[in-house]
Formats: sequence, C-alpha cells, structure tokens
Amino acid sequence: MNDLLPSISDRDFARFQRLIEDEAGIFLAPVKKELLVGRLSKRLRILALPSFAAYLEYVVSGVDEEERVRMLDCICTNETHFFREPAHFAFMKDVALPSFASAAANGQRPRRLRVWSAGCSTGEEPYSIAMLLLRYFPPQSGWDLSVIASDLSTRVLTQARQARYSEERARELPDAMARQFIKRERREEDERNATVTLVPALRDIVEFRRVNLAAVPFPALGRFDLVFCRNVMIYFRPPTKQRVVTGLLEQLADDGYLFLGHAESLLNLRSAVRTLGPTIYARSRVHAREDSH
Ligand SMILES: C[S@@+](CC[C@H](N)C(=O)[O-])C[C@H]1O[C@@H](n2cnc3c(N)ncnc32)[C@H](O)[C@@H]1O
Repeated sequence: MNDLLPSISDRDFARFQRLIEDEAGIFLAPVKKELLVGRLSKRLRILALPSFAAYLEYVVSGVDEEERVRMLDCICTNETHFFREPAHFAFMKDVALPSFASAAANGQRPRRLRVWSAGCSTGEEPYSIAMLLLRYFPPQSGWDLSVIASDLSTRVLTQARQARYSEERARELPDAMARQFIKRERREEDERNATVTLVPALRDIVEFRRVNLAAVPFPALGRFDLVFCRNVMIYFRPPTKQRVVTGLLEQLADDGYLFLGHAESLLNLRSAVRTLGPTIYARSRVHAREDSH
C-alpha cells in the first residue's frame, strides 16, 4: 500500500463494505481495499479526519447528510463513452425503432417514445441514444421523444447536464452525428483543452435525475419503451442484481426492449424475458402484464 495514504483495518474495511452495499448495492470484495483507500483518502484530508474509522463515524453520524452522497460519488466507477457497445445501437436503429414506427403507422401505438438510461454516468450513453432517436424521428416527424437519464452520483450528473466534452471524447462520434449535434467552441490559445458542447435540440429531450437503483421501489418514472442499464450491476451481488432487473422489467413496456452490459447475465430471470441479441431482452409473453390489454 502507498505510504502516503492512511491505512485501514480489516474491521473498518468490513464496516465500509456493509455501508456501501446497503446504500448503493456496490459490493467491494476484499481485493478492493486499496481502491477504497485510494478513493476515500481525499475525503479524510478535506475533512481533516485522522483515520478511516473517524471518517466512517462522521458519515454514519448524519451531521452532514451530503457526505454520504460524496462518499458514494468517490466509490462509483464512471467509465463510459459515446456509442459504447455498438451492437446495442445497431439493434436500436435496425430493429427497435422500426418496430415502433410501424406499430405507430398501423395505429397500434402513439407517436411517443420514452427511454431510460439507468446508470448514465457523464451522459455519453443517454446523449448517444438521443442522437439516434432524433436522426430516426426528426422533429418534423411529429414524434414526442424523451430520455430520462439517471445515476447515483451527483458529480457525474452535474457534468452530464453541462453536455460539454473534450474534443478527444467527441471524436468517438460518427461524422454525421458530430456534424449534426456538436457545437464547437475552440479556444485558439489552448488547443489541448478544447471542448465541444452538444446542441440544445439534443439536450432538450434528455432529463437527468438522481436515482439509486439499489433502493427499491424505484421512484414513479412510468413505463419506458427502451431501458438501458449497462455496466452498472457489475459490482452488485446476485440478490441485488435480481432485484434491480426485476424492477427494470417492471418499468418496461410490453413491446419494449431492455439492454444490459455484456458482463451482466440475467441469472435466474431468464424465464421473465426473451433474448433478442447479445444482452438485449424483451419481456416474455407469459410475463406481459394483464393491465396492458
Ligand atoms: C461504468 S458506468 C456505466 C455508464 C454507462 N451506462 C455505460 O455503460 O457506459 C456505471 C455507472 O453506474 C452508476 N451506479 C453505480 N451504482 C449505482 C446505483 N446503485 N444506482 C444508480 N447508479 C449507480 C455509477 O455512478 C456510474 O456512473
């Protein structure tokens, strides 16, 4: 362990482990001890606390409710990028959106689409979804489009709402998307820190909210046609995962599609879904809700 960082006893690590799993569903296996120390030692420094035991007491004492949120902000891993796992976006464009469009053309559904990006991190995922939606259903098509993007971490939500990304990050976008959805604000004097902002038309259809997926029941968000919950449950243990997936399926429209991360298997929930592609699911017909007919 790095000499400059304070150490943590096994007993205190176990207490943090319980607290973090209870609060956020995130299970830090013993090998994650150094990760915890690395990520939380800054909080000890800022609060001038002498040890992890003292920090834990401070967090659970409730004198500063925001510190719980800050602790979780430090623990969350927020790696993401635009159009991550392209097979999911190809499925959305080639299968999901055409199925909604033809159902609407036949009068079987309204021209309205609601999408949930759960565990959206700094916004690349929900904005990628919104780009595809707007290209498929441009404003003149008359579709009402909305993306609810949620995360546990307030830090990433603040960043996501700004819709500002580095030039380097923006290079992940296909050319056509970049041309349509990026506003360049190049500051000539400092090329390296150049950033771009996403256009208002895109930002207008994405709404960010703090939702803790480990706290069931979820807030009343309504039904969604597409639910993305990718690379969020990797640190959840099986009972938590099962609870979260059951909750996500509850929010999914009967003709909707659920996208999970590639490392996130559906455990023993397979009977509740039909598999349509790599970690792409629909509700199984048996489980379709009676109230929808
Ligand atoms: C690795 S990022 C994945 C981002 C995006 N979905 C993707 O696939 O690129 C995981 C995100 O899940 C969030 N997260 C972790 N635990 C959560 C929880 N209990 N409720 C909501 N979000 C959570 C983290 O804050 C982080 O932003």
